[in-house]
Amino acid sequence: MKFFIDTANIDEIREASDMGVIDGVTTNPSLISKEDGKFEDIIRQICEIVDGPISAEVIATDAAGMIDEARKLSQIHKNVVVKIPCIREGLKATKALSSDGIGVNMTLVFSPSQALLAAKAGAMFASPFVGRLDDISHYGMELVQQIVSIYNNYSFETEVLVASIRNPLHLVDAAQMGADVATMPFKVIDQIVRHPLTDIGLKKFLADWEKVKARS
Ligand code: G3P
Repeated sequence: MKFFIDTANIDEIREASDMGVIDGVTTNPSLISKEDGKFEDIIRQICEIVDGPISAEVIATDAAGMIDEARKLSQIHKNVVVKIPCIREGLKATKALSSDGIGVNMTLVFSPSQALLAAKAGAMFASPFVGRLDDISHYGMELVQQIVSIYNNYSFETEVLVASIRNPLHLVDAAQMGADVATMPFKVIDQIVRHPLTDIGLKKFLADWEKVKARS
């Protein structure tokens, strides 16, 4: 299972990358808007830190415009994967770009049929947004289960990238369901490493070691 970090914040990306568990990065216009600097420069900087798929999203909503932006974004670095929204024009763009060897992360996926279309169009990743479904009283993880089983039925190569993860249980559920990738904000990466019994255990080991040191 691959772990991506869902942020455009360079300090968070550096810190998570130093932990040795980050395989890629996802951004979106909202995350980019929280950081200073030009979009292309931020993406370039991220590519220098993490050697893996780095998602950068297009803004155009027509296929020609999306393709044009995607080609420019893919010039920034070989690891750039272009994020395209799951709309009709997005499918056209995804088909054209993936046929040309440009990786697409089909984003804003909220139904199994949308995920099926993303795979048919040749997307490298399909991104179901689980937290946003939970927000409107739909079980987001149910969608992930459906997509994993559909992709397995037909051996689609498109990877299931679980997005809009809000808590550690989303990650654990995604792993149990066999999702290929989970993209998490830094806060969740920090939460999943913590356990109170680890902290209590470590404190006791260190206190006991003081007794050992006192012997000499
Ligand atoms: O990767 C998509 C993610 O950034 C959306 O998260 O919390 O805004 O729904 P959220």
